[in-house]
Amino acid sequence: MTNVAIIYYSSTGNVHALAVAAAEGAEKAGAEVRLRKVTELAPAQAIAGNPEWAAHAESTKDVQEAVVEDLVWADAVLLGTPTRYGAMASQLKQFIDTTGSVWSRGLLAGKVYGAFGSAGTAHGGHESTLLSLHNVFYHWGGLIVPPGYTDDIQFQLGNPYGVSHRSGDGGPGEPVLEGARYQAKRITQMAAALARGHAA
Ligand SMILES: Cc1cc2nc3c(=O)[nH]c(=O)nc-3n(C[C@H](O)[C@H](O)[C@H](O)COP(=O)(O)O)c2cc1C
Repeated sequence: MTNVAIIYYSSTGNVHALAVAAAEGAEKAGAEVRLRKVTELAPAQAIAGNPEWAAHAESTKDVQEAVVEDLVWADAVLLGTPTRYGAMASQLKQFIDTTGSVWSRGLLAGKVYGAFGSAGTAHGGHESTLLSLHNVFYHWGGLIVPPGYTDDIQFQLGNPYGVSHRSGDGGPGEPVLEGARYQAKRITQMAAALARGHAA
């Protein structure tokens, strides 16, 4: 069994929808999945002031919060974030910044990693946000497995770095959800192949 951790932050639900689709894709590919949100850092007053944010926080209150052990447990990890000024959200960065003790023991190295996201506009930082996560994976000694153009769905979506939704036109429908399922399937299959290689 391949262990896949899908860890994300979402204020208004776009990245959450991609994370759920990714979990479906990994499970269908035979993975055991941990779908986890990172801890919210924003003040309650800020959340309450945005009806979409408040509604999403309420509807996902039962999603388990990520802990560093989820990364250690996983053979493959997908991290998801909304774009914040062209980079990852601080909530996800805060989670990443709690990994020092496992990183220093080499417990994050040699795993398969990928990133997905959502930005409001077409040119508002999809790639730079995904690359801000890829930079972390280099430091962790991870094997970055991007979706590239390895499936027809990727030719429709056109982002080889990772699935990233443009939310200015509304929430993610097909085909972007299909892209998230495909990205998760691909990292699951790559992690399984890596495990077989180590065992041989
Ligand atoms: C503080 C802040 C900064 C943002 N920066 C960008 C940006 O640089 N480019 C962009 O296209 N969208 C930007 N957005 C929009 C979000 O990335 C976008 O709405 C995203 O789809 C939200 O995902 P979520 O629904 O999962 O929270 C920003 C939003 C906020 C609140």
